[in-house]
Amino acid sequence: MIEIDHLSHVYKGGIKALDDLSFSVEEGEILGLLGPNGAGKSTCVKMITGAIRPSCGSVRVSGYEVFRNLRKVRHIIGVMPQETALYQDLTAQETLEYHADIYGVPREVRDDRIAEMLKLAGLSLRKDDLVKTYSGGMKRRLALVRALLHDSKLLILDEMSLGIDVQSRNLIWQQVKMLKKEGKTIIFCTNYMDEADELADRLVIIDRGRLVAEGSPQSLKKTHVGNFIIELEFRGLTDEQDQSWISEQIGLEVELASENEDPGIQTARIQSEDGYNDLPQVIRILSNLGITVRQASMRSPSLGDVFLTITGSKLRD
Ligand SMILES: Nc1ncnc2c1ncn2[C@@H]1O[C@H](COP(=O)(O)OP(=O)(O)O)[C@@H](O)[C@H]1O
Ligand SMILES: [Mg+2]
Repeated sequence: MIEIDHLSHVYKGGIKALDDLSFSVEEGEILGLLGPNGAGKSTCVKMITGAIRPSCGSVRVSGYEVFRNLRKVRHIIGVMPQETALYQDLTAQETLEYHADIYGVPREVRDDRIAEMLKLAGLSLRKDDLVKTYSGGMKRRLALVRALLHDSKLLILDEMSLGIDVQSRNLIWQQVKMLKKEGKTIIFCTNYMDEADELADRLVIIDRGRLVAEGSPQSLKKTHVGNFIIELEFRGLTDEQDQSWISEQIGLEVELASENEDPGIQTARIQSEDGYNDLPQVIRILSNLGITVRQASMRSPSLGDVFLTITGSKLRD
């Protein structure tokens, strides 16, 4: 359905947003594009929709080279952009009518289709109110059904649940699952791990415009993180007792963070293949070193652990 081939993009001013990115999306698949802020996700999907032209490389949708077939490709794709791009002075009804005209939704089905979409978005009762009077969640729901209106086979959803309430998010997630059942192909961008874990068949993780990992949520956890994640909270570390020193003492890779409000308390994250043996042993070793563990826990790895392992825990912007 989508073939991205050695895509690079440099914005005016010299920012390299994409750097030799290649991946593909199968028909009927839900692909999650995951990455920290500024990784290049939006830039990538804007090239799939033809909104910006790549500096280098090519994008094909249904076999059509996007930039040679903009008109054709436009009808194959429904887009929900990150900045919802709604006209504030139109009503929901007018927004959808306008979109239906642009995309040539046939007159005979138009009104029914619009009513159906308004219902899906839970906006039937507010359809004649101006968009500018809507909450963030209502705007996103409207942007979603606008993307669905012309019944395209490929959907692109950029940050579908950015800054919205839990109810709107649940509604949007349900729609995405339903669309998959209908056989749609979906690519969505997110930096919410739970969203990626819940919805995606496969993930492409990008960082600084490059692909850094690819696979199903399950296989990524298997490949990049151990069977268990041990988390500890302790006090009593001196400056010399840093991450590599502790790792050496314990014999496992330790990631230290001082995210606690109390500066004397530190948290450690340890990947382990054999948690039931490692956990008591780690506590024993630390205690022998005079380091008191205040809290210890063990859990299965999450997609967040994969993400941190791959992209690192340092803030980006
Ligand atoms: N129109 C633009 N002009 C210049 N730089 C841009 C523009 N849009 C995005 N960028 C830069 O390109 C990089 C990738 O941005 P973006 O694709 O929006 O990332 P993401 O969607 O993953 O957060 C960032 O460094 C961003 O600041
Ligand atoms: Mg983005």
